[in-house]
Order: sequence, then C-alpha cells, then structure tokens
Amino acid sequence: MVHRLLGLPGFSLTVLLLPLFLNGLEILDPGQVVYRETRTNGVVDKGVILECGTTLPDVYIWGFTKPGTDTIRAVVYNFGKGPKLQQLAKDLGDLNVITNSASLSIEKLPLAAEGLYTCQALYDTVEGARLYYYFVYLRVLVPVSKPYILLSDSSPVEGTSVWMRCGLENGTDPVNYIWEQESRSGVVTTLAESNRSLVNVTWVTRNHTGWYRCLARNEVNQQRSDRIWLDVIYGPDLPQIDVTPYSVTERGYSALEKETVSLMCQALSNPPSQYVWFYNNSQVYTGPQLTITKILRMHTGNYACLAQNTYLNTRSKKTITLTVYYPPDGAPYCSILPVNNYNDLALFCSWEGGYPPAMLSWSQSVHGDNIQGTTNITWIQPGPETTNNSVFTCYGSHLALNVTQRCSTKTWLPYGEPQCSAYATRNNEYLMLSCSWEGGFPRALLWWASDSGNMQGTSEENSNILVLRSSSTYSGKAFVCHAKHPLNKESKTCALKLEAPVLKTQRSVVSVYEGNDVQLTCILSKNYPAVTEITWYNNMKQKVDNSDTPKKYVLQHAAAWSNLTVRETDGTVDSGQYWCSAINAVGGAEIPIRLLVMRYPMPPNVTISRIIYSSQRRTDVNVEWLTQADGNITGFFIEHQRLPGPLWYKVTVDLEPSTRSYQINNLDPFGKYAFRITAVNYRTIGHPSEVKSPALPGFNAFPAVIGAAIGGMLVATIATVLLFLYVVRNRNNNPRLHDLIFGRQNSQSRENINYPEDEVVGGAEGEGDRGEGDRGETSPSTSPGPSMALPRPTATPTNLPPGDEPVNVTITVMASN
Ligand SMILES: *[C@@H]1O[C@H](CO)[C@@H](O)[C@H](O)[C@H]1NC(C)=O
Ligand SMILES: *[C@@H]1O[C@H](CO)[C@@H](O)[C@H](O)[C@H]1NC(C)=O
Ligand SMILES: *[C@@H]1O[C@H](CO)[C@@H](O)[C@H](O)[C@H]1NC(C)=O
Ligand SMILES: *[C@@H]1O[C@H](CO)[C@@H](O)[C@H](O)[C@H]1NC(C)=O
Ligand SMILES: *[C@@H]1O[C@H](CO)[C@@H](O)[C@H](O)[C@H]1NC(C)=O
Ligand SMILES: *[C@@H]1O[C@H](CO)[C@@H](O)[C@H](O)[C@H]1NC(C)=O
Ligand SMILES: *[C@@H]1O[C@H](CO)[C@@H](O)[C@H](O)[C@H]1NC(C)=O
Repeated sequence: MVHRLLGLPGFSLTVLLLPLFLNGLEILDPGQVVYRETRTNGVVDKGVILECGTTLPDVYIWGFTKPGTDTIRAVVYNFGKGPKLQQLAKDLGDLNVITNSASLSIEKLPLAAEGLYTCQALYDTVEGARLYYYFVYLRVLVPVSKPYILLSDSSPVEGTSVWMRCGLENGTDPVNYIWEQESRSGVVTTLAESNRSLVNVTWVTRNHTGWYRCLARNEVNQQRSDRIWLDVIYGPDLPQIDVTPYSVTERGYSALEKETVSLMCQALSNPPSQYVWFYNNSQVYTGPQLTITKILRMHTGNYACLAQNTYLNTRSKKTITLTVYYPPDGAPYCSILPVNNYNDLALFCSWEGGYPPAMLSWSQSVHGDNIQGTTNITWIQPGPETTNNSVFTCYGSHLALNVTQRCSTKTWLPYGEPQCSAYATRNNEYLMLSCSWEGGFPRALLWWASDSGNMQGTSEENSNILVLRSSSTYSGKAFVCHAKHPLNKESKTCALKLEAPVLKTQRSVVSVYEGNDVQLTCILSKNYPAVTEITWYNNMKQKVDNSDTPKKYVLQHAAAWSNLTVRETDGTVDSGQYWCSAINAVGGAEIPIRLLVMRYPMPPNVTISRIIYSSQRRTDVNVEWLTQADGNITGFFIEHQRLPGPLWYKVTVDLEPSTRSYQINNLDPFGKYAFRITAVNYRTIGHPSEVKSPALPGFNAFPAVIGAAIGGMLVATIATVLLFLYVVRNRNNNPRLHDLIFGRQNSQSRENINYPEDEVVGGAEGEGDRGEGDRGETSPSTSPGPSMALPRPTATPTNLPPGDEPVNVTITVMASN
C-alpha cells in the first residue's frame, strides 16, 4: 500500500487540460472565464470540504477526474432546481452539497476519492453572466499504522552485524523512521532518524543490548512499535579477580595466615560466565567466589579463575599469585656465645621460620646502637666491659603478628674459683684430673696445663677432665687448671700436685707366743690421689681378705692406717714376712713386717715306771710314770695301741700337770695293748715315753718275755709301714714300685685312704721339726722351709719411694673386682 501510494505520480492535471473541458461545455456568454485552483488534503475515513466559490452560483457542475485518467465525470450539478447527485458520487464516500453553497462535503473519505475535482460555476451578474472554473486537487492521505520490528538476529554475537527493520503496513509517504533504544537503566536515546526503515549495525557491541522500538511518522500522524529486546551475546572478557582483604606486594597478592580470604572473579559475559577456580592447576571450586576460611601457609600458590561462556563455548582465564604470610613459631631465641678466645660476647638472636622473615632487633646494647636484621642477628659485645647480670633483650616482629615477641638473656659470671681434684680409675689404670667451674652464661672455658705451662689435652666448658695413663713419672708433678670467662679479663687457676704413697710401720718385727692373737700395723703418710685401700699379704704372699674361714685374719682400716690381726698364731704356720702395700696411679709402696711366733719350751721326757692289769680279768690297767725334770708341763695325755698296731688312740686328754698315775678301763680282755704317755707344755708336745704293755698282777717274769716278743713284732710292723710310706712319698721317683704295690687305677684313692697314716707319720716327722723349733725358742728362726719357697707377690708399677731400704722384690697385685 505504501509503495502504491509512494509510487503514485504527481497530479499531472494542469490548466492545459481546461480547453478540453471548455470544448465540451456550451458557454452562452463568450466573456472571460475565471480559473481558480486549490489543493486540499483529506485523510482517509475523515471528512473534507471542497469549496466552489464563496457565493452560491446560479448554475454549477462538479466534475471528477480520476488520477491517471483524463476523463472528467460529473458528480453533482444544480441548474437552479437543487443539486442533483450523480451515480459516481457513491464511489467518493459520503458526499453531500453544503446547503446554500456549492461546496462539497465528503465524510469518510475513501482512498478512491482522491483526484481532481472541477466546479464550473455560472453567475448571472448585472454585467452579464460570468463563468468560473474552480479546480480542487484532493489528496487522500493514509495515517501510518503501528509499526513492528524485524531483527535479523535477536541474539547476535558481539562483533557480527545485525539489521533491524521497522515494518509498516499503511501510511502515506513520505514516512520518517526514528529508532529509539532504551538501555537497561531505562535511559531512552534516539539512535537513528531516517526515511529508510532499515538500520544496519555492522559491528554490534554489548552496548547495543537493550530495548528497541521504532517510531514511524508522516504528515498525518506518528506511531511507535512495541519494544523488542536485542540480546547481544559476548564474552567472557578477561576476568577480574578481587582479593579481600586487599594486600598487594611486588610478588602478587598476600594474606595473613588464619585470615578468611575471599577471591572474587568477574568476567563480563552474556550469558553470564560460569566460573571455575584452579589452585596450582588443579580444579578446586566452581563458582565466582572462592572463599578460604582460615587460610594456611600451604595455601600459597597460583590461583586461576577460568570464566566460560557456555553459549559461545568461549573461555578466558586469569591467574594471580597469592602468598600467605605466617609468623615464626613462639618467640625469638636469645643466646650469648663466647667469641675472640672468650674475650668477647656474641649476642645471638634467632627467630627461624615465618614468611616473610621476621624482623629482629637487639635493644640497649652498651653503645646504644640498634642492631637490626631478619631471621638471625649477632652483636659483638666487649666482654670485660660487661657486668655480671647484664640483661639484653631481642625484639621480634612480624607482619602476621600484631604483638612484638621478645627474648632476653642475661650474663652470669660463675661464682668463686675453679675446683681441681685428681682420682684414678679402678685398678689405677688411668689418672683423671678433674677441674670444674660450674654455671655461668656463657660458660667458662677450662684447660689443663703442666707446671711448665704446656697445655694438656683439650679445652672444655664448665668442667674438664684430663685423662692420663698412670705413670710414676707424674709423681711429684703439679698440674694447673685455667678457667677463662669473657666477663673476667684474666683467667682463674687452681693447681694440684700428684704424689706416690709412702708407708710406715711402728714395729717392723713383731713377736708373739703361739696361740695368741697379734696385730700388725701400717701407716700411710702421704699420697695423691688418695689410695683406695691398703693391701696386706701374708707370709705365704697371698693377699689377705676378710673372706677366709675360719677367720684367720681380721682387717681394720682407717684413712691413714690399716691393722692386720693374725688370730691364734701357730708357730709352724704363721711366722714369716708379712707385707702391707699401697698403690695409687703415680706409684706404689710396700713394707715388710716380720712376725715371730714363739713356741713354749719342750716339756721333759716321760718314763712309765709301772704298768699293770688291775686284775686277772685284764679289763683295767693302772699306769704310773715319772718325768725327767720339773716345770714346763701343762698336762699329759695317754695313748694306747691295740697290737699288732700300728694306730695309736688317745685314751685321755689333758691330765693335770701334777698327775702321775691313771687307771684305764673297759679294755678288751682278749686284746693285747701297748701304752705310751706324753707331756704337754701349752701347744708344745713333748717326746712320747717308751712303749710298754701291762703285765698281769703277781707274775713278774711274764711282762719281760711278752714284751720281747711284742717288741719283735713291732719292729717288723714298723718296718712294713715305713716301706709303704716310702713308696707313697716317692711315687714319682719310683712309679713302677708304686704301681706294683697299689695298682695304677686306684693310686689316688689309696693315697687318700692312706692319708691319715701319712698324717700320723707326718706328726712323727713334725717331731723332728719340733726339735728345730726348740732351738728357735732361743734365737728366732727365719724360715719354715716349704712355705717360704713360694714366689713373692709382684707389683707393677714398682716405684718405691727413694730412701726406702732397697729390697729386691717384685709384687704382683692380685686384681679382683
Ligand atoms: C491499511 O489500510 C487498509 C485499507 O484501508 C485497511 O484495510 C487495513 O486495515 C489497514 N491496516 C492497518 C494496520 O491499519
Ligand atoms: C549490513 O552491513 C553489512 C556490512 O556492511 C553488509 O554485509 C550487510 O549486507 C548489510 N545488511 C543489509 C541488510 O543491508
Ligand atoms: C560501551 O559503552 C561504554 C560507555 O559508553 C564504553 O566505555 C565502552 O567502550 C562501550 N563498549 C563497547 C564494546 O563499545
Ligand atoms: C603451589 O605452587 C607454588 C608456587 O609454584 C608452590 O610454592 C606451592 O608449594 C604449590 N603448592 C602445592 C600444594 O603444590
Ligand atoms: C653473678 O650473678 C649471679 C646471679 O645473680 C650470681 O649467682 C653470681 O654469683 C654472680 N657472680 C659473681 C662473680 O658475683
Ligand atoms: C691398730 O694397731 C695399732 C698398733 O698396734 C694400735 O695402736 C691401734 O689402736 C690399732 N687399731 C685398732 C682399731 O685396733
Ligand atoms: C728324751 O727322749 C728322746 C727320744 O726318746 C731322746 O732323744 C732325748 O735325748 C731325751 N732327752 C733327754 C733329756 O734325755
């Protein structure tokens, strides 16, 4: 329709056409014809008035020429008898002639009413009839209808082109189009104004997103379209990451440990972005806001936000670095170390861990300097200028802590003097020199030096033990311990001197009568380190301890002396050289003490003066005897022997010294007996009397005869016994003889069986010894043979102090644990 209207050629009817009309009219008065032209616009369906002069002509005719044609058709005429409407008038709408005029009124204009209207009017005036031609050009205009919008794409992608057309059904040209955009915020802007209905957006942007409508207008009216939404698809843009709390360093974002950190990602996109968070390239969260409550140091790393437009399947990514700051644990650690050979102090402060490193500072150094640094700092402080109990404080601060931590340290000079002492390991293998000066901060340095000043061993803090292999070369030597503390300008010392032991005794020869106890004494005069024990050796060179039973020896010790008591001395066993010995790590000493056990004088010989059965029944014997001298007798004992012997049995023990007769009862009347009597002086036993057998009472010749016979038997018996004893004693020299008599296998048991005999005979041999002992009573005898042949104890090291008598001895220390 619009096109049709627009396509209409202009009204081409001109005055030139009039002669044609005139030729058709019959004009009675040939005077001049007056022409009048007007143009009138009407609107379809509305009314319009077409005028034909101002006064009512006497005669008039309205004609109508359709556009595009040149034929004129009558619509209405009035020749004075009222207007006569022609058939054509019905096509031109609701057409009437206005009363008292020649003007036409058309209601409800149809489009077909458009055209050239011609009113030929004749006026009868006094000057004559006058003819008028009124040409009225009527245009029928169409108002614009409500436009509508056509979009090439209602969801275009940013960067593409899109066109919009404002569609219109009706409306007379020219039509003007105005494009309006209403943004999201409601602001309406005019985008374009044009007579073209099409708008081509060659590069659509997100800014084009919004409501659109078009307004179409022509000379009749204007109409707006409904609004339409243009949804531009775009994005995602490069994401923007907001970190709260916000803290940026040159290395990226930072956060304090245990804070709640929120990472907000925003990437503009339509449709809105889908967000995925990555930590060190692993996906950790989906959504725009990644919140880490109580962030930890291990959460340091790279955080990436990936934004995706699922519609376009496009994505963009941004990565930030987040560093979690955390403080070091606890508080700084303070210490004081000695430096420059224990002349100065190094104040050391350290606070490890934490990121970034903690800041440290020493306050109040003596010179007022402020020593600062990170993680650990050291400040050198001159030692002797520092007083005891000086306090130094180190302050530590860290970004992630709102309080300052600190540590303090205090100098401390040990009290008093270093202490020296020496001791030895067990068995005196090693000598240990101990020096200590406990306490102090920092601790003092201790070292040992010989008295010539040479340093010995290593230097140690607080205490120093110098270990030396024991040697007599150290005897008489002094050692000095030096102790240096930074707070003292000079070092302190303590010294000690090593000395080998020296032994003395009150009496080097002690004599005692046998049977009595005797005490030997040893006195220790000087020694360092102290001797742990004075050792005694008996006359057999055996070490004496308190463990022997029955108690032969009793030891008594005190710090400086030791007593050895020999109990119930025996003249044959206990005499001899005893030794007391003392050893420390730098030497040893021993001294001999000679013990003389004196025997009592030999009692006199005894003779049996009379021996006789008291009756014929031969069960009781009366015996009487005599002594060759008086005195030196403490008692007698009587023995008998049942013949042929050889064993003797004691019949009595300890008869009073004044006794000279005795009756022996309960003998076997069929046995034959021999008797002998021996005198005793304390422990000394005299020679037994001659052997006698009793005679029957009243028959005096008999004892002599019988005695002779018995005597012969006895001699034979004793000879046999002596042979056996000889074989036993000399079995090593004459093994064949021994084996011949006793046999090889049981030789041992035979010996044991024979032992009692052996002892008896040994006792006989002992009588010979006693003879020697008799001589010993007057002049103290030196050696009871076999016992003294034993080797003497040896001691290593042997370091007899000079001045002692040079005795050529070797001492073996009996080591026992
Ligand atoms: C356009 O004009 C035709 C004829 O007058 C009419 O039938 C039609 O309804 C009109 N359209 C609108 C949208 O007004
Ligand atoms: C709109 O403009 C683009 C680019 O100039 C062109 O390619 C396209 O054909 C135009 N569209 C219309 C409907 O004129
Ligand atoms: C959209 O409009 C804003 C403000 O007018 C402008 O800064 C921005 O560059 C525009 N964006 C595009 C894609 O044209
Ligand atoms: C993450 O990456 C950072 C930097 O490369 C690294 O220091 C951190 O240890 C990594 N974290 C884990 C859990 O791998
Ligand atoms: C140094 O001070 C400490 C602590 O008060 C104290 O124990 C020590 O004896 C003092 N040292 C000296 C040498 O006075
Ligand atoms: C050790 O012997 C000496 C000398 O015999 C003596 O003076 C001292 O009292 C004795 N000590 C003891 C405890 O018996
Ligand atoms: C005592 O008897 C023994 C042996 O019978 C004899 O050797 C000694 O000479 C006698 N002594 C005296 C003083 O007769």
